[in-house]
Amino acid sequence: MSCLYYRDSHLYIENINLKDIAEEFGTPCYVYSRSAIETNWRAFDEAFKTISHHICYAVKANSNIAILGLLAKLNSGFDIVSLGEMERVIAAGGDPQKIVFSGVGKKQVEIERAIEKKIHCFNVESEPELERIQTIASRLNTTVNIALRINPNIDPHTHSHITTGLNESKFGIDINDVISLAKKISALDSVQLIGIASHIGSQIVHLDPFLKVIDRLLDVYKQLQQIGINLQHINIGGGLGITYHDEHPPGIREYAQALQDKLHQQNIRVIIEPGRAIVGNAGILLSRIEYLKHTQHKNFAIIDAGMNDLLRPALYDAWQTILPVESRQTEKKLYDIAGPVCESADFLGKDRELALNPGDLLAINSSGAYGFSMSSNYNSRCRPPEILIDGDHATLIRRRETIDELFASEKTLDLAHCK
Ligand code: LLP
Repeated sequence: MSCLYYRDSHLYIENINLKDIAEEFGTPCYVYSRSAIETNWRAFDEAFKTISHHICYAVKANSNIAILGLLAKLNSGFDIVSLGEMERVIAAGGDPQKIVFSGVGKKQVEIERAIEKKIHCFNVESEPELERIQTIASRLNTTVNIALRINPNIDPHTHSHITTGLNESKFGIDINDVISLAKKISALDSVQLIGIASHIGSQIVHLDPFLKVIDRLLDVYKQLQQIGINLQHINIGGGLGITYHDEHPPGIREYAQALQDKLHQQNIRVIIEPGRAIVGNAGILLSRIEYLKHTQHKNFAIIDAGMNDLLRPALYDAWQTILPVESRQTEKKLYDIAGPVCESADFLGKDRELALNPGDLLAINSSGAYGFSMSSNYNSRCRPPEILIDGDHATLIRRRETIDELFASEKTLDLAHCK
């Protein structure tokens, strides 16, 4: 469900007209609904209530510390993939002991800091990573919890860039190597195997791949049990898709019910790592039309947001709904909605039927996940501000970057001595 609705031909989030947001904070800007974020998180918590569970929000989806703080307050755990994400969670008031650390390339300093902060568990993605964690933990004279991330070779039927559980993916440990690795771990004294994990991809809109993952994980879980290795949890990753356009993903309740049906005979805790399903439809990118450009072949609306602000359409050919902030009854035309960046891939939407005037505001819907968090300064553009709406209030939770900040950490050369 989108967080947007029309009242008197104007687009709103909660009680606020987006036109007022544009006036106060300028465009482009990201706008989020607190209520939508919290409702989605609670829906997961509620839906899994019949089994022991732990929701670890995937920080990469949207890592603004105000949002992390809201989730921390709800008692959320966090799935992180870098030191930066861990420090964000801590700065936001999140509990390090509710952090799981995923990712194929954990550096030594990242492992050391995570051990120092006593995170809940490392999701180990390879044998060399296991050896590194064991060496560091042993040097620090401690024992750390690990889970093995399994690559189950299951196709999630999503975009190839966000498919992570096939044999050719860099992620996880081959399912056929897991038992022998688990036996090896039993002999190590600085790591304790407490779980198995899997994350096969993102924007998954069918239940079937999730059910297959559970079957594979339960199979491994039972094999381990038979050799005396008892786990505390199964981590089924994130990946639940949302509706951007005409997809019909299972609802949170339907998804949770199907998984629980398989899990609840086992007396085991489940960890879930949703990102997109919590924040995706809780935010938009608000942008203003700079020019309408009509050629013999196409109509373009050139807007003030570009691929540096929202990369998904350029990178994944992603379709996100684009809505006028003030709806008009005038004649509609087909437009390509393009940004100012010097790349032909810089579009936010193609062939959209809209009635537009120069200066109009547009909302690019479903931008709460992988929007700001994937933004960049390409073309030396300042990253946009982020605003959180809570009922009648709008709070700036990240201000717009300034031109000075763009090159504040750079240095000109002293060329006086050069010939
Ligand atoms: N857990 C792990 C280990 C992950 O790698 C991810 C996402 C998640 C959980 C959360 O997945 P979600 O519930 O959000 O689907 N930039 C892409 C999505 C990349 C997802 C990467 N991993 C996009 O904009 O579609």
